[in-house]
Amino acid sequence: MSIAFLDGVFLPLEEARISPLDRGFLFGDGIYEVVPSYGGKMVGFTPHIARMQSGLAAVGIDLQWSEQQWADVCTRLVEDNGAGNLGIYLHVSRGADNKRFHGFPDNVAPTVFAFTFEIAPEPVADKALAKPYSVITTQDLRWDRCHIKSTALLGNVLHFQQGYEQGHGETLLFNSSNELTEASACNAFIVKQGVVSTPPLDNQLLPGITRHILLDVLRRDGGIKVEERTITMDEVRDADEVWITSSSKEVAPVTQVDGQPVGNGQVGDVWLAAQALYSAGKFDY
Ligand code: PDD
Repeated sequence: MSIAFLDGVFLPLEEARISPLDRGFLFGDGIYEVVPSYGGKMVGFTPHIARMQSGLAAVGIDLQWSEQQWADVCTRLVEDNGAGNLGIYLHVSRGADNKRFHGFPDNVAPTVFAFTFEIAPEPVADKALAKPYSVITTQDLRWDRCHIKSTALLGNVLHFQQGYEQGHGETLLFNSSNELTEASACNAFIVKQGVVSTPPLDNQLLPGITRHILLDVLRRDGGIKVEERTITMDEVRDADEVWITSSSKEVAPVTQVDGQPVGNGQVGDVWLAAQALYSAGKFDY
């Protein structure tokens, strides 16, 4: 049975209960994280917690938890749930008031919830074992604060579903200037003539931890040129390779965009090198 954490108590997930007046439930008024963990080793724990702290500050949720407090909860959840291939979900909402009112409530403690779920084994840098994605593209109709990892994910959910119900694994998003932003639950990269490019960080995309680690390991290695710059959708269609990144997928190759092959339609050599560097370096973060 899966063990969860809710407001200071570890308990079976099935027994965890919140109020229907919780603002996470009523308004999607909260911040979340997903931290991957393999065999008891977490990837990117410190940057994940830092992103959550800055998200909480950005929306004015006052939770004075240290990184060590989060580490204690995560370590115990990983142990209690078998220490296999786990995603650790962390969620802080603005808490439960006694009424439904848009303004921030006074004297209401945030709700802190965490649980783990099974994720696929660690991705490996092997073309034969890679799971290539096909994606569709659509205009990004989410809000102008996509850098905040808010639990209000309906915009992302609707975009994901657009691709999913047509048999695709993700949806790439572009802004009103026809520039790539990210995907519904991943960051996005292109490769052209050996150069790896990804959109720069701004309010249009989440500062992904996988994105951060990948850029860092590529730059540290120095063998592959990396750019953070605006990318048009024409460049996406003309790319040699397209990748999507997230905590559980790591670096995932995309071989089809809107029904057209990316490059030669096969998993690429730059992907192979990038996933190998990611696999080798990820536990340093
Ligand atoms: N999704 N962009 C969006 C919109 C995301 O939701 C995510 C992560 C990412 C990648 O971020 P990271 O590399 O830190 O996982 C980018 C998580 C995993 C989710 O919602 O389940």
